[in-house]
Amino acid sequence: MVIEALQSVLGKEKVILKEEAGKRIGNIFGKPEKMKVKALVLPTNTNDVSHILKICNEHKQAVIPMGGLSNVVYSALSDGSEIGISLEKMNQIEKIDTENRTATVQSGVILQQLQQALTASDLLFGLDLGSKGSCMIGGNIATNAGGLQAVKYGVMRNLVLGLQVVLPDGSIISDLNSVMKNNTGYDLKQLFIGSEGTLGIITKAILKLDTLAKEKSTAFLGLSEFKNASKILAQARSFFGDKLVSFEILWPEFYEIMTNERSGNKKPFTETYPLYAIMEVIDSNKLLDTFLEPFLENNELQNAVIGTSDQERKQIWGIREKVDHIMNEFDPVFLFDISLPVSEMENYHKVVRENLYSNFQQVHYSIYGHMGDGNLHLMLNCGDGNIEAKAQVEKIVYEPLKNIPSSISAEHGIGLSKKKWLSFSRSENEIALMKLIKKAIDPNNIMNPGKIF
Ligand code: LAC
Ligand code: ZN
Repeated sequence: MVIEALQSVLGKEKVILKEEAGKRIGNIFGKPEKMKVKALVLPTNTNDVSHILKICNEHKQAVIPMGGLSNVVYSALSDGSEIGISLEKMNQIEKIDTENRTATVQSGVILQQLQQALTASDLLFGLDLGSKGSCMIGGNIATNAGGLQAVKYGVMRNLVLGLQVVLPDGSIISDLNSVMKNNTGYDLKQLFIGSEGTLGIITKAILKLDTLAKEKSTAFLGLSEFKNASKILAQARSFFGDKLVSFEILWPEFYEIMTNERSGNKKPFTETYPLYAIMEVIDSNKLLDTFLEPFLENNELQNAVIGTSDQERKQIWGIREKVDHIMNEFDPVFLFDISLPVSEMENYHKVVRENLYSNFQQVHYSIYGHMGDGNLHLMLNCGDGNIEAKAQVEKIVYEPLKNIPSSISAEHGIGLSKKKWLSFSRSENEIALMKLIKKAIDPNNIMNPGKIF
């Protein structure tokens, strides 16, 4: 019934039936699984989205908004009972305003498509992620994506000026105002940023742009201990100020996997070190070299390679970016995304490591992350096929966060994977308020039901 209603309003070509949709892949991170939906709808404009939601709401039909499907917490996972709404056809960059430095984009624009379109205007959009070639702006907003350059540009929440959203009843909320300051009551767009498709469907956004850096330098560092990484980070912040773009940390297990013979990456050093870091600045190689020199002389830095060409910089980032390689090496891999202060990282790491090795006979352990913004990722495997380990591993990872400022998700969101742990980072009152908001906007619970809580 609902499918016929959608077909009659949208036309048959925009409604892909279950069998055909089932030939598609439902996730692009991790082991590929086929998409399981009742139907997949492909709107081409905001009015289409409005009609779709109105019809689904009347039929109390659950829907899942879909972007590039590179989500890592199963926010866009369907079980066959939902209708998928893919924004892939709404992929126009509507306007690049060079004077006011904003871009108006439809939500199906792929992040890299936007990044490339901006280079001609010497502008840049500050979000950068390993999945930039497939993730879509709508998904980046819905999940409040963070990524590799949050030290300088912030996360998606800081990069959106205006938003157009369709609510479950089909009404269109157009907060497409490009002004930098807008202090007129509740900031409604923030409600939808990071809402993981549970409140409405983002159809369009006005994004804040920045100047494209003329010169960028990237260094791969070999270190003997964490306290030196911490010192270099602190001094880089004052030396480079807002020209520090990224500061990433890589523990040796992560580095070894990401440079093994199947990785496609090359090791920057012949020697090995207890710790590695990548730092990127908007400045010359010469200045980066000048900055690093005293640390090398004092033995606070063991080794450094500076990427001079785009090609060399790309090789350095290759070691950090394409972490799905780890998912191909081990199965299952439990991926974590925790926030904690830099000052707590070393101790945290030690505790988790000890606990893992004392609880499991076989542990494949990678830890790395966005040190500059207090965000670590752990990718853990406790033996081939050992999915039972998950609950115990979660406990080991989350328990030590209890007594320090922390979050169980820094940038990936909650989705299905972390829902059980939401109360670890959010109070009862906060969760009750979230549920109240959800109920007010989506009384029939059709928007991505079962995700977050
Ligand atoms: C990363 C993803 C997993 O930073 O957030 O590699
Ligand atoms: Zn990350």
